[in-house]
Amino acid sequence: MEWNVEGFGESTQTLILPLFEEVAKAPNKATSGLGRSTAAQVREAVASDDFDGKSSNSLTLWNSGQKVVLAGMGLPENLAEKDARDAGAKLLASLSKQHGKSLTVRFTTNWRVAQMIAFAEGMMLRDYKFDKYQKKDDDDDDSPYSVTFQASDRYLRQLHDGCARVGAIAVGVHRARDLGNEPANVLYPMEYAKRARAWAKGKDNVKLTVIEWAELKKLGMDGLVNVGKGSEHKPCMVIFELNADDRNGPCPMIVGKGITFDTGGISIKPSGGMDEMKFDMHGSATVFGLMEALHGIGHQQPVIGISCMAENTLSSTAYRPGDVINTYSGKTVEVLNTDAEGRLVLADGLWKAGEFDPEFIIDLATLTGACVVALGHEATGLWSNDDALRERLRKAAESVDELAWPMPLLPAFEKQVKDSKIADVKNLGDRYGGSNSAAAFLKQFVPERGEGDDAEQYPWAHLDIAGTAWGTSTNDMVAHGATGVHVRTLTHLLSEQ
Ligand code: BES
Ligand code: MN
Ligand code: ZN
Repeated sequence: MEWNVEGFGESTQTLILPLFEEVAKAPNKATSGLGRSTAAQVREAVASDDFDGKSSNSLTLWNSGQKVVLAGMGLPENLAEKDARDAGAKLLASLSKQHGKSLTVRFTTNWRVAQMIAFAEGMMLRDYKFDKYQKKDDDDDDSPYSVTFQASDRYLRQLHDGCARVGAIAVGVHRARDLGNEPANVLYPMEYAKRARAWAKGKDNVKLTVIEWAELKKLGMDGLVNVGKGSEHKPCMVIFELNADDRNGPCPMIVGKGITFDTGGISIKPSGGMDEMKFDMHGSATVFGLMEALHGIGHQQPVIGISCMAENTLSSTAYRPGDVINTYSGKTVEVLNTDAEGRLVLADGLWKAGEFDPEFIIDLATLTGACVVALGHEATGLWSNDDALRERLRKAAESVDELAWPMPLLPAFEKQVKDSKIADVKNLGDRYGGSNSAAAFLKQFVPERGEGDDAEQYPWAHLDIAGTAWGTSTNDMVAHGATGVHVRTLTHLLSEQ
């Protein structure tokens, strides 16, 4: 979407007028620039009972050359940022070919600037398609929307800056969705690395490191090596460093699970719905999208992202149930199920994060089906070893309407994963509470600050996005497929607190 911000003036081919319930008479500025008959039509419609301004009530007026969409917003005091964002997204989703690509959105009586920005944000986030593999009809207009946001002069500066910010973040969200939606025959670990390199190229404050197959083996990153070794598309670790040159002091670390396809490996998954396992790299998609969003808003502080990329498939070279493997941390793991692979690649990513003087470590992973059973597609599961970090993250997620729900990191679950007879830990817990035992497993690989008796784990939080990374029907920001979840949460957490 291309956009600009200006005062009330002319309208493009389609005018969008989001109006509150209490507006019984069309404000003068609402009809600015309209021809006489269209203006009269707008005034009549707003005054009539057919348009009452209640939310979800909308009306399109048509004239040759000029369309006007009246969109009901309910009462202004009830329009929380979430509602405004949802309304903008729904409005964009409701547009058809006839509305054309040139829109004017006019914020008149009683609109507050934060609401305007949220409305624009909803439009921007919802303006996304993954149609690169589909043939276009001859009469399809593939050009981007061009949107002019109009408001009173006194709001223009703030509205412009706000739109620039949410627009840059939406680019990051869309990047994460693109990566998530890309099929696994196209997006395999080194293709992700290639796209990351292409993005980092020429950016002074971005450093990109790719640890490839031979080096993974040399370094003993055997979590990644074992999960990925069955595929001809070999694993890699991709490290994004933003503003990290000459930094003085600890820095936030974000680690993502990047399984470009999860067949389950030798412990193979049932075939129904297996196609969805192309989304199993959404943690790493969010890491990439976050970096792009932070760079786009001109973020100045250091942030480091680590993506653990592998394809979990089965072949004569794949790892097996019963194998005992090493990890980068030095802890050994008894593999009881090759489908519990995410925790193995993350074990190496978390341990690697410890080498960068972390302020805290947050990981994102489509880790367990059990998390989808617990929370559906409505909230991400959130575990943490640090109350303050958990609460910061919960709040950040809530404030951008990407809910993250606290879940228990109980010692009993740690006990389960430490219960291997022949290795330090095993990659499976007991039958129930599978997302908790997965979190408890990850905790075994969270690095420590200090040594000996003073050693203490870095603050760490784990986000299980198995349910929120894709397939949500109640999320107005996205039509289908990958959601780009938590690019906005983490941008908010890192840049606004
Ligand atoms: N990628 C899956 C988890 C998943 C399942 C994500 C459904 C999204 C939707 C993960 O690697 C996995 O297979 N987990 C297993 C763990 C089990 C073997 C302990 C699971 O959840 O069944
Ligand atoms: Mn799996
Ligand atoms: Zn997986």
